[in-house]
Amino acid sequence: MQEKLNKLKDQAIRELSLVKNIKQLDDVAQKYFGRKGGDLNNILKGLKDLDPEARKEIGSLANEIKEELEAAVEAIRQTLNAKEVESKLESDWLDVTLPVDTNLGHLHPISIVQYELEDLFKGLGFKILDGPELESDYYNFEALNIPKHHPARDMQDTFYVDNSKNTDKWVMRAHTSNVQVRAMKEFGPPLRAVVPGRVFRCESTDASHDTTFDQLEGFMIDEDISIANLIAVMKVMLSAIFKRDVKVRLRPGYFPFVEPGFELDMQCLICGGKGCSVCKQVGWLEIMGCGMIHPNVLKAGGIDPEKYSGFAFGLGLTRFVMMRYGIEDIRHLNSGDLRFLKQF
Ligand code: DAH
Repeated sequence: MQEKLNKLKDQAIRELSLVKNIKQLDDVAQKYFGRKGGDLNNILKGLKDLDPEARKEIGSLANEIKEELEAAVEAIRQTLNAKEVESKLESDWLDVTLPVDTNLGHLHPISIVQYELEDLFKGLGFKILDGPELESDYYNFEALNIPKHHPARDMQDTFYVDNSKNTDKWVMRAHTSNVQVRAMKEFGPPLRAVVPGRVFRCESTDASHDTTFDQLEGFMIDEDISIANLIAVMKVMLSAIFKRDVKVRLRPGYFPFVEPGFELDMQCLICGGKGCSVCKQVGWLEIMGCGMIHPNVLKAGGIDPEKYSGFAFGLGLTRFVMMRYGIEDIRHLNSGDLRFLKQF
């Protein structure tokens, strides 16, 4: 038995000395110390059949050999690891004297303005929320007080998608207002949030219409919220974005999810209200829809309209970007044309 053990040790040492990489090392270690069928382990397992005297003697020799071999495996492993690092360093090198590529990417103009608005609203205590682009008919229309077959649906013709699980269709959301009722249900009142995001319409494209564009929805719900709060927040937002004091006016506008509803105009910054080609000689530019959230919408969101009120607005982020940078055709924005994008 003793002889057998010494032989095994010599053989293991010979095999370890020939190992060239970690994989081979693991194979040899497995062969001798593997839990199932490792040669040395088998001997240790067989000890129980020996008489006590022999068990003690052979047992201590076998353990000694095991420890010695395990130490050898560890030492070889460290050397092999060090060698691997060294050879990696030799092959993976970097020429730090090469000129730096300064042609880095940058944010898309929509993202630039979106992030600016997000920062501004965060400062006013608003949450920034996200929502699904493929939406149920319910959140896109019904929850917003636009029942099926109501003519108001024609204002926002979108893409319907078959929903095999349900008779109700899915829609590509026609506006970011789809997040209003989702947010009311999730957070409850009081609530302040803005929702930037991509929306879709079934449009014939031209210089000012596209099938895909961006909006920023906003709403504020609490006790005693009034139109005065709406106007104040809109003025703060527009003045911050256009970096000067901005005059606004409200005109009645129809949106089924607000009552009263408004179109908000901003005094033209180019002519100061006198009339020019940008504002089509009117002196004012239509910027967004807004109003006081309809009681039916608050109810759909589980909020008591007797106790709470709120304002909402939906701003055409894409429109905003076009005005800010003087972009004359909406189709540039999603074109991916580098001649356009590199200007920002
Ligand atoms: N969702 C409307 C649209 O896409 C915009 C809008 C109007 C949003 C009035 C509002 C609002 O929150 O109060 O045309």
